[in-house]
Amino acid sequence: MTIIIQGAMDSELDVLTEYFVPRKTKTIAGYDFYISSYNGNDIILSKTGVGLINASVATVVGINEFRPALVINQGCAGGHVPDIKNGELIIGEKSVYINNFYTNPKGIGEGSNSLDWYPCKRSYVVPSTPEYVKLADGIGFDGKKRVGILGSGDLFSKEIDRINYMHGLFGELCEDMESVAALKVCDAFGVNRLALRIISNNEITLEEFDYGVCKTLQKFVIALVDKIIGA
Ligand code: 5AD
Repeated sequence: MTIIIQGAMDSELDVLTEYFVPRKTKTIAGYDFYISSYNGNDIILSKTGVGLINASVATVVGINEFRPALVINQGCAGGHVPDIKNGELIIGEKSVYINNFYTNPKGIGEGSNSLDWYPCKRSYVVPSTPEYVKLADGIGFDGKKRVGILGSGDLFSKEIDRINYMHGLFGELCEDMESVAALKVCDAFGVNRLALRIISNNEITLEEFDYGVCKTLQKFVIALVDKIIGA
């Protein structure tokens, strides 16, 4: 089978590129794909770049070019609840688009208050494919792991009141900038999909950004791929 594994940044793909050694690299519309053969399967590592638009384009291009049976969107995320720590794994049963807001009208000099913005009704929530959520949940992980809701948007929130406001609206455990776009595109094309996030920072508890956790997640992804293909 063909599996696309996405990461926004090099730090989210370095362990994977060492393991799934590319036999070929293809750049399409500026998006890099590292193509490898693995026990009779095609594993395509896709560097999406950061943000929803990059993730959308990279997913469309990847699906169109490689016709995958599964897309795994994986990477780091900031915790949106106080009891979540760096290194914890969230298996995204779904991802919610968390920056689709309307503002209330305010005049000149009246400022802005994001706490009274309200979500656009056309916002969306996209599930991962349940079968793959279950598979991922069955794999051992050296650390805390939960199945839950990912929040995703073009924002990096550091305001605790607003984080709590969004969490009350959407129930997300964490915030990233790609997962909802990747899942949405896969859904549109009828492609199986799974979003995975590891906590790299928490702006509620002030735990600082640690890129190192991405390596732990990539090792988990390798174990997951082995389980999927029956290696
Ligand atoms: N908010 C948004 N994105 C985050 N990321 C890590 N932490 C956060 C956070 N608190 C991820 C995004 C993006 C990059 C900044 O890291 O998915 O790719």
